[in-house]
Amino acid sequence: MADLLKLGILISGNGSNLQSIIDNIEKGSLKAIIKIVISNNPEAYGITRAKKHGIPVVVLKNGDFKNKEEFNLELIRILKNNYVDLVILAGFMRIITPTLLKAFPHKIMNIHPALLPSFPGIHGQKQALEYGVKLSGCTVHFVDEGVDTGPIIIQSAVQVFDDDTEETLAARILEEEHRIYPQAIQFFAEGKIEIKGRKVRIKTEK
Ligand code: GAR
Repeated sequence: MADLLKLGILISGNGSNLQSIIDNIEKGSLKAIIKIVISNNPEAYGITRAKKHGIPVVVLKNGDFKNKEEFNLELIRILKNNYVDLVILAGFMRIITPTLLKAFPHKIMNIHPALLPSFPGIHGQKQALEYGVKLSGCTVHFVDEGVDTGPIIIQSAVQVFDDDTEETLAARILEEEHRIYPQAIQFFAEGKIEIKGRKVRIKTEK
């Protein structure tokens, strides 16, 4: 059997995307292993989810570091010590520095709750509602030096209804997040992702 793709997953909150990755691994549709979960929030529910499945967790509190760079250096140390192949940002609410990007070139993925390049940054769902779009959705992309600007791997759209609240729209988008994030990681595991500049192509079987 080929080696499993080794994941390091960074979280800050509920961890439902982490859960969908765990579930897909357990049912065999994602050929990967989660080596480490790192949370910058000691209260994150994702920590409980990881522990329930016997996955090692490290908490790095923002306040324990002099600055963002020191925090990112510690992240790199932990990820490298765990031989991580691919870094997964799953609701991780902290900016990644160029040092971390350099340590994992084209090996950091993020999921964003909007159809990028629309509504980057925080509260993507609220921004979409306030703008009045009829479709929104989610985007899995590689991380680059910008905020939610990296090459797009998969997107999925959902309808926005007149009576949607931020919560109902977020829930509809999350269902799609839970589907496309494990899918994008599996494409990576299978070596099917080709990046040319901004563009990502998913190689199909020959
Ligand atoms: C998800 O909706 C994710 O797309 C979003 O945070 C939520 C985390 O949920 N990420 C961002 O907004 C990043 N800018 P989860 O903790 O249940 O996976």
